[in-house]
Parts: sequence; C-alpha cells; structure tokens
Amino acid sequence: MLKAVILIGGPLKGTRFRPLSLDIPKPLFPIAGLPMIQHHIESCVKIKTLNEILIIGSYNAAELVNFVQEMINIYGISIRYLQEFTALGTAGGMYHFRDQIRAGSPEAFFIMNGDVCANFPLERMIESYKETKGTLTVLATEATRPQSLNYGCLVLGKNNSIVHYVEKPSTFVSTTINCGIYLATVDVFQIMSDVFYKHQDKFMMNSNGKDPAHISLEQDILTRLAGTGKLFASETSNWWSQVKTAGAAIYANRHYLNLYRSKKPERLIPAVNGVCNVVGDVYINPSASVDPTAVLGPNVSIGPNAKISAGVRIRESIILEGAQIQAHSMVLHSIVGRGSIVGKWSRVEGTPCDPNPNKPFAKMENPPLFNSNGKLNPSISILGTSVNLAAEKILLNSIVLPHKELTKNFKNEIIL
Ligand code: GDD
Ligand code: GTP
Repeated sequence: MLKAVILIGGPLKGTRFRPLSLDIPKPLFPIAGLPMIQHHIESCVKIKTLNEILIIGSYNAAELVNFVQEMINIYGISIRYLQEFTALGTAGGMYHFRDQIRAGSPEAFFIMNGDVCANFPLERMIESYKETKGTLTVLATEATRPQSLNYGCLVLGKNNSIVHYVEKPSTFVSTTINCGIYLATVDVFQIMSDVFYKHQDKFMMNSNGKDPAHISLEQDILTRLAGTGKLFASETSNWWSQVKTAGAAIYANRHYLNLYRSKKPERLIPAVNGVCNVVGDVYINPSASVDPTAVLGPNVSIGPNAKISAGVRIRESIILEGAQIQAHSMVLHSIVGRGSIVGKWSRVEGTPCDPNPNKPFAKMENPPLFNSNGKLNPSISILGTSVNLAAEKILLNSIVLPHKELTKNFKNEIIL
C-alpha cells in the first residue's frame, strides 16, 4: 500500500504569486481548469495501490475544507488536510504528522511539492524504488548550468545513487536538479527524529526565530542521506516546471492543456462544432457562457460562470470565475481575475516569460518584478479580483491589484 503527501506551504509562502493568491490559497489557483494540486491528486489516484492522500500546510483548514470534500466526492479515496500550527518546513510538518502517515503501514509514500507542475512519472518512480529499495527516491531532471543554482542539485554515483546534495548552491554543482517529488519509506522518520532532537538542543541554547520543530527536507534530510547508499534519483525528461509566478501559471496552463489532448481529450473544446471558434487547446468550464463568434486559443482556460461576448479574441490566457470579457475585446498572455470586467473594444496584453526554446533543458526564469534600474520587468498582465477596465482601453504588461476601476491606458505599471 502507498500514500502521498502534498506539501502546500502556507499564507506566508507564494508571495511572488500575488495578487492572484490574495483571495485564494495559491495551491488552489486553477490551471487548465483545475486547482493546481488537483493535477497532483489526479496523478496519484491513477496508482491502484495508493489509498490515501494527505495535504500538509499551514493555511487555515477552513480555506481547504470545500476543496478536500470535492476531491473525495470526485475520486472516492481518502484525502485529508493536516494543518501545521506554524510553518514547520518541508519535513517538519511530515514529522509532526508522522503517525498519520505511518498509519496502515504503507510500504512507501510520495512527497510532492504543491508548487510544481509536470507530467508526473509516479509509476516510473515506483519502479526505480523497487530496483534500489532506497529510503528516499528523488525525481530528478536536467537544468542548464546557470539555472541549476536555483534548485537542489544532485551528484549521481553508481546505479543512480545520490552521492552529494546541495540545496540552491552558490557555485555550480551539477545540472541534475531536484524536481521536488519524492518516494520515501517510513525509515525517513528516523532521520527526521535525529534532526528534531538535535534542533531541540540547539534551540535551547540559541533561539533564532524559527520554530524548534522546523525541519527542512532538503537541507536537513537529503544532505544527510546523500552518500549513504540510501538516497537515489529517478531521472525524467518529461515536462516539469515550478509554479512560482503568475507567468509560470500561463506556461503550466499550456502544458496541462496539451496533456489533456493525449490523456483526457474530452476536457478540450473540439475544433469543429464547439461552442465557439477554437484554435489549438482550449478548456471552457461548462457553466461559462461563450458567444459563438468569439475566437479562443491556443492555450486558453475559461473558468466557471465567466462570460465571453461577441467578437472577443483570447490567446495564451486564463480567465477566472465570473470574469466578463465584453464584446470585441482582446486578451493575450494575461490572467483576468475573479469577477473582473474587461470593457468593449479593450485590449489586455502581457509578455510571455517562457523558457528559452533555443537552450536545451532551459526552465522558466522567475525574474524579480523590477529590474536593476527600478523598472518593471515585462511580464504577463494580471487583473486581480473584481477589477473593472473601461471600454476602449489598453493595458500592457501591467499588474492590477484587486477592486480597481481603470479608466485610462496603462503600460508597464503596477496599479496599487
Ligand atoms: N507544509 C509545509 N510547511 N509546506 C511547505 C513549507 C512548510 O513550512 N515550506 C514550504 N513548503 C512547501 C511549498 O508550498 C512547496 O510546495 C514546497 O514545500 C517547496 O517549497 P520551498 O521551500 O519554497 O522550496 P523551493 O520550491 O524553492 O525549492 C524546492 O523545490 C525545488 C523544485 O521545485 C526544493 O526542494 C528544491 O531542491 C527543488 O529543486
Ligand atoms: P552560456 O551562455 O554560458 O550558458 O553558454 P552556452 O550555452 O554556450 O554553453 P554552456 O557552457 O552552458 O554549455 C556547454 C555545452 O553543454 C553545450 O554543448 C550545451 O548544449 C551543453 N549543456 C548546456 N546545459 C546543459 C545541461 O543542462 N545538461 C547537459 N547535459 N548539457 C548541457
């Protein structure tokens, strides 16, 4: 029997995802029509022997209760949210709830960072684990040399054993990086326990603001396990990306829609006899209303109860619940927030921040909002919740915080 743990962090994480995470926990932000971590859940429920999913984070349980219930209704397996009393780090939460994870004696359990998206090769990881019987198997992929510094870096030895692990090194270590997806046996709790007690001693003497129960899976556990013959990598060349910024959500949207084409084609709008004109991969929630003269795609997701009027053109964008795109407007490389309105004949446009297609193994850059001259870096445009953009206006490369009334044109601005 197997289980899975999804790590979702808490309200203090996901800051680069604002303003989209202001009114909804980032792990529930919809990508390709589904909350981000529903994609994790879908990949877990495909494994027949996996019978429980535990979501661990420090969000208030009330924010997740409806989602969890809905997931149980859809997939019919045990799914629970376990709330940390404070951010305990990537392993501290699991250690705190170890009895819940160990209950029923699972042979192994997946650990999944909630903020990555991928064509998760979970079956392949199980095979890797069966070959090595390691305490922990890390899903690994290739990055470019400069970008590898933003990730956990692994040095591989014989039979894919990890001989050296450095979390976000300051100088180059390896182009093989940690994807934030693991398969662990319950033996890992012994190592967590050693770390926990060491920390207690240290914190008694010198408290530095972190909770004494804080344990980092990467810094405290993986670095300890590396070189002991108990830590292994399972390499993948599948599509994989982090979702740290809103721009990454647009990128992930495109890839999840593309996966639907091979795995769940019924979720995509057919090119002929669909509700409207469609180019490439498009998801439309059944409760949305879309005028037949609108042209959507490629890579567009339309949320529940959204209203898309006549002559609208949308490309490479996510339109959230209840948003309205009024007649003859255009939306490109943008996210339109819940209940926002784009007036008639307006244009909302952003700049894509995709990985460099000419560099093998390139990942998304997650640039800071501002460049060194204090100017806003061009990025996708985002309308926060309940923003109203008047008719015949242009909004270019801008980020708009919730509840704004915009009556003029904006370019490269953050509208607070
Ligand atoms: N429950 C819980 N509690 N979850 C947490 C906490 C916490 O205190 N802190 C972080 N997380 C969750 C986040 O929500 C995220 O899903 C995951 O753990 C990792 O988050 P970060 O700590 O922000 O790490 P990172 O994303 O910068 O780097 C990690 O992922 C990379 C791949 O995306 C590392 O594992 C890297 O080595 C790895 O390359
Ligand atoms: P920079 O602009 O400095 O990044 O230079 P570059 O792209 O010309 O070369 P770099 O030194 O990064 O790479 C040298 C060689 O390694 C080239 O043949 C690349 O195709 C290859 N290479 C680059 N990144 C990776 C990687 O992540 N994995 C592997 N296996 N090869 C890589």
